[in-house]
Parts: sequence; structure tokens; C-alpha cells
Amino acid sequence: MKSTLITNLALAFSLAYASPVTHEKCRPVRTTHIAKYDDLPFVEPGPNPIPPHYYGLSYFTFQVDQYDGFIPPTSGNQWTMAFGGSGNISIPDSPPKQMFDLESFSFACDSGIPQPECAISIWGWKEGGKVIKRTINYPRLDPGHVIEDFKMNKTTFNWQWKDLKSIGFSIARADNGGDMYGGLALDDLKYTITEKQC
Ligand SMILES: *[C@@H]1O[C@H](CO)[C@@H](O)[C@H](O)[C@H]1NC(C)=O
Ligand SMILES: *[C@@H]1O[C@H](CO)[C@@H](O)[C@H](O)[C@H]1NC(C)=O
Repeated sequence: MKSTLITNLALAFSLAYASPVTHEKCRPVRTTHIAKYDDLPFVEPGPNPIPPHYYGLSYFTFQVDQYDGFIPPTSGNQWTMAFGGSGNISIPDSPPKQMFDLESFSFACDSGIPQPECAISIWGWKEGGKVIKRTINYPRLDPGHVIEDFKMNKTTFNWQWKDLKSIGFSIARADNGGDMYGGLALDDLKYTITEKQC
């Protein structure tokens, strides 16, 4: 039942297109997804793992998490959270010959108030073993704000973030590299999966 529902939602939210018709049989199939996590079950107490192959990707450590009155998710009332601040999102081994291009996501470090500026390290493992890295920061949050002042930030990824097998995340204090003692939340993860037919 659930997998049928998820499949239908996947179809509904996916922009599938194939390259123009050619005489080759081997044209790749490319599918763009925006994972919003709002269609996933959430129970308390957890854990609430992301089900296998959610819109084509496997999540390690990241869970479904629901708005608790602090930083609101960009869309709906759920996001995905790596509670210890590190985790991976990968293309499954099966079917083979799949890769993904990372396009954009919303993010927040979630350690409560106050929290220091947070440095989020992001690694991309490409087909063939090449590794790329980028660091983005989430601003420090000080007391004395109304809750409406707190929101996720958003970033986009350039052409280098293509043909990925996996992306990995970890967080640290931006000022001294120390532990954030918090989680990393992502929402509206946009990516395009390429599946080679042969
Ligand atoms: C993420 O993937 C890398 C490379 O496969 C691995 O070394 C690391 O342990 C993984 N981390 C988590 C939190 O799954
Ligand atoms: C990033 O997040 C901070 C803290 O919530 C917020 O003040 C700021 O407006 C956000 N920036 C953008 C561009 O969303």
C-alpha cells in the first residue's frame, strides 16, 4: 500500500523527460525530483528513517522530522534531519548505472538558541571515485529574536555537482571547528537522476 502511494506521488512530483528520439538504443533517462519529506510518516517517539529509495535515493542517518516551533521547514511541516549533524544521501546500487546531479536545497543547523555560526561540509563522491567538497555556513542565532526571524537558508550547486554517486554532510562550529551539538536539517532537495539504459 505505502509503496504504491509513494510511487504515485513520485510520478506526480517528477518531471520525467527523455532526450529527443534518436536511433541509438542507449539514451539515458533523466528524472528531476524535489524531495519535500511531507508525504512521509512521522511518529513519536522515533526513529523515523527515510524509507529506502525515496524518490530514487537512499538516506543514511537522515530521518523524517517535524516542525517543533523553532525553525520552520521551507515547505510543509516536515524536513529531513541528521540529528548528529552528519549523514549521507546516495544513489542505490540497483538498478545499476545511475547517477545524480545535485541542484539545490534548503538547510539549517539546529542546536537551539543561542547557537554559533555553523559550517556545513558537503562532499560529493562521483562515479569513478573523484571527490569534490564545498563548505556553506548557517548564521549564528542569538537570543532576543522573535521566532519568525528564524528560517532555513537555501543554496544552489554548480556544474561540478554532476554525475554523483553519493553526497555526505558534517557540521562544525565555524569559528573554531568545535562540535555544534546539534542537527543538520535539509528540505526541498532538488536533483536529477540519470539512468543509463546500457
Ligand atoms: C558516508 O559515506 C562515506 C563514504 O562512503 C563513509 O566513509 C561514511 O562513513 C558515511 N557516513 C555516514 C554518516 O553514513
Ligand atoms: C538565513 O537564516 C537566517 C537565520 O534564520 C536568516 O536570518 C536569514 O534571513 C536567512 N537568509 C536567507 C537568504 O534566507
